Amino acid sequence: MAFIDELKAKAKADKKTIVLPESMDQRTYEAAEKIAKEGIANIVIIGTADEIAKNGAGYDLSGVTIVDPFNDPNKQKYIDKFVELRSKKGVTPEIAKDQMEKDYMYYACLMCKCGDADGVVSGACHSTGNTIRPALQLLKTKPGISSVSGFFLMEVPDCDLGYNGLFVFADCAVNVDFDAPKLAEIAALSAESFRNFVGAEPKVAMLSYSTKGSAKHDDVTKVTDAVAIAHEKYPDIELDGELQLDAALVASVGELKAPGSKVAGHANTLVFPSLEAGNIGYKLVQRLAKANAYGPVLQGLAMPVNDLSRGCYADDIVGVVAMTAVQAQQA
Ligand code: ACO
Repeated sequence: MAFIDELKAKAKADKKTIVLPESMDQRTYEAAEKIAKEGIANIVIIGTADEIAKNGAGYDLSGVTIVDPFNDPNKQKYIDKFVELRSKKGVTPEIAKDQMEKDYMYYACLMCKCGDADGVVSGACHSTGNTIRPALQLLKTKPGISSVSGFFLMEVPDCDLGYNGLFVFADCAVNVDFDAPKLAEIAALSAESFRNFVGAEPKVAMLSYSTKGSAKHDDVTKVTDAVAIAHEKYPDIELDGELQLDAALVASVGELKAPGSKVAGHANTLVFPSLEAGNIGYKLVQRLAKANAYGPVLQGLAMPVNDLSRGCYADDIVGVVAMTAVQAQQA
């Protein structure tokens, strides 16, 4: 079974409630109709009667719940929660109401925080920053996690590297700047994401332009420091570095450049040393190898919220909703 079909089957086995706040985008309705028909998740769309009539005309929304943010009996509960969480940041009831009405992503996150939904998918017509900022502010990280990061589940066709062509790539989406402890945490979260989504043991490569001391620079030291921290903090994770990409993936190169490493040549979880490398790397593989790139999926958040590419199709939204529902099952 293809990866995405397995995900949908998992999501259907224990249906979760996922919010789509982008009622201003027609792809939301196309996806919602498909998700409801396939029974992947219970879908909530946030929008006014006018927005639904204008953008959702012609779609069968009979299996979908609509929440009107101007006329919702639960609204005061969400305003109170917003103020409780953010009054120290200057949020008053007036500011909370205004922000929730202007930006439905806040509304969606508050529905999750109050237990009325299990996850959110957005970003078809909002930037990554605007999509994830409300989640960072309101839902926060899981206990013991300092930083949220973003991974892609890459499915490379006709590929015997990684786990039969399946890989986790991280961080490709969130942290513009990270030090060695953060990099080690990204590695641990990525290993967990690989195990949860692929159902196999992660082999984590901490990537660099250097393999085992072949080059010297502060950028390389950041990676070797992260490897040392990860070995100490997460001794059960099979992880090695610093490794160049070819040494991480190709057995003959791994044996040559990193002899004795259990990860070199067999890596399935690639941790990039910077956001530039991660973001460019996943797009290269997606475009040149015609890989499916599922994500960015956020890891480390207390509740699942996921971003979409602004160039996405309705089917991509269906896929990300399935991933979000599976994350909600695991939460
Ligand atoms: N993990 C957990 N919390 C975080 C993180 C993080 N990685 N980053 C910020 N926060 C928290 C802050 O602590 C703060 O909380 P507080 O308000 O309670 O104090 C809140 O989020 C906002 O923090 P700011 O620093 O003000 O956030 P900022 O406005 O800079 O936004 C963001 C953070 C959105 C993650 C930003 O770093 C960003 O835009 N990253 C890059 C996103 C991007 O463009 N990615 C590439 C495209 S994605 C793609 O191609 C698929």
